[in-house]
Amino acid sequence: MLSPKNLTPRQLSFLAALAISTPTAFVIYLLNQNWIIFFISFALLTIISFSIIVFTFNRFIYRKIKLIYKIIYNTKATKKEEIYHKYLLPQKNIKEVTADVEAWATEKTQEIEILQKNEQFRKEFLQNLSHEFKTPVFAIQGYVESLLDGGMLDPEINKRFLNNTSKNIERLTNLILDLDEISKLESGEIVIAKTNFVVQELIKEVFESLSLKMINKNITAGIKKGCEAPLFVFADKEKIKQVFINLIDNAIKYGKPGGIISASIYTMDEMHILIEISDDGIGIPEIHIPRIFERFYRTDAGRSRDVAGSGLGLSICKHIIEAHNQNIHVRSSEGVGTTIGFTLEGRKD
Ligand SMILES: Nc1ncnc2c1ncn2[C@@H]1O[C@H](COP(=O)(O)OP(=O)(O)O)[C@@H](O)[C@H]1O
Ligand SMILES: [Mg+2]
Repeated sequence: MLSPKNLTPRQLSFLAALAISTPTAFVIYLLNQNWIIFFISFALLTIISFSIIVFTFNRFIYRKIKLIYKIIYNTKATKKEEIYHKYLLPQKNIKEVTADVEAWATEKTQEIEILQKNEQFRKEFLQNLSHEFKTPVFAIQGYVESLLDGGMLDPEINKRFLNNTSKNIERLTNLILDLDEISKLESGEIVIAKTNFVVQELIKEVFESLSLKMINKNITAGIKKGCEAPLFVFADKEKIKQVFINLIDNAIKYGKPGGIISASIYTMDEMHILIEISDDGIGIPEIHIPRIFERFYRTDAGRSRDVAGSGLGLSICKHIIEAHNQNIHVRSSEGVGTTIGFTLEGRKD
């Protein structure tokens, strides 16, 4: 449809010129009663008013628009853009110009949002970091001061406080190791050295290494029935071991006393093996699920409990699995349990 908004400036100028020349030429005809003079004055008036209008448009409006274009397309115009401004821009109608400016504005808004997010992320990172360090350091300080204030004279207190100090030092060490690991993973420094190995054997090894923690909570762990047949995967064994340690450690920490942890292993297709670690513990509230792989992210249960942990475990797992070009995912219901699964490449010869 021909609406004034969709006309190019030239078309608009032409229409305006006609609006001026037609009645004027008609008045001249009425005065002269001569068709030739009518046509000549009509033609001359059209040409002159068209030229004046176009000139005004270019001079006072399009120059300003061009300036806006130059600014939104990043100041210094290249040769190509000069041509664009000179020949193509005047063809554009106001609607197209509006669309261009709107697109530019959206792009800028998105850029600003990303910058704001990064800023927020940096702030949170520092807050989390100092929080995670503060807890064990203050605890150590407290125990040592109490010991110096006379606590060390009582052998029972002495031993208990030193034990607690040692636990907090362990927590600090783990935090530093986790931070080191994550920064290496994030900077892409870590090389993935893949070999073929049997997943079930590695899982059993990790179950074994964490058995003391399980006994303390009366938790039993095993490979799910039907998944015992040895399956080879092609991956970095040490790194995957770390993933299992993190996942099974979580399953124990957030598992219910007397509960069960099970590992299941499935062949998905020739190329992929799916591995899942499930527990029947406290589960993760739905609102937290999308965020648990973020670094330092812990649910309220993770924070309030006196369980050691930095909130870095799952984000390390995600990094490791992604460095293998595979995926990690979570399914969980509050009060029912949690399953965290990931894929790995099948055996490669
Ligand atoms: N098996 C699980 N059951 C319930 N919640 C879990 C489980 N695994 C992880 N979570 C939640 O996800 C958070 C992040 O896990 P993780 O990065 O390993 O941190 P951390 O173990 O240091 O708390 C935990 O704090 C906990 O709230
Ligand atoms: Mg953990």
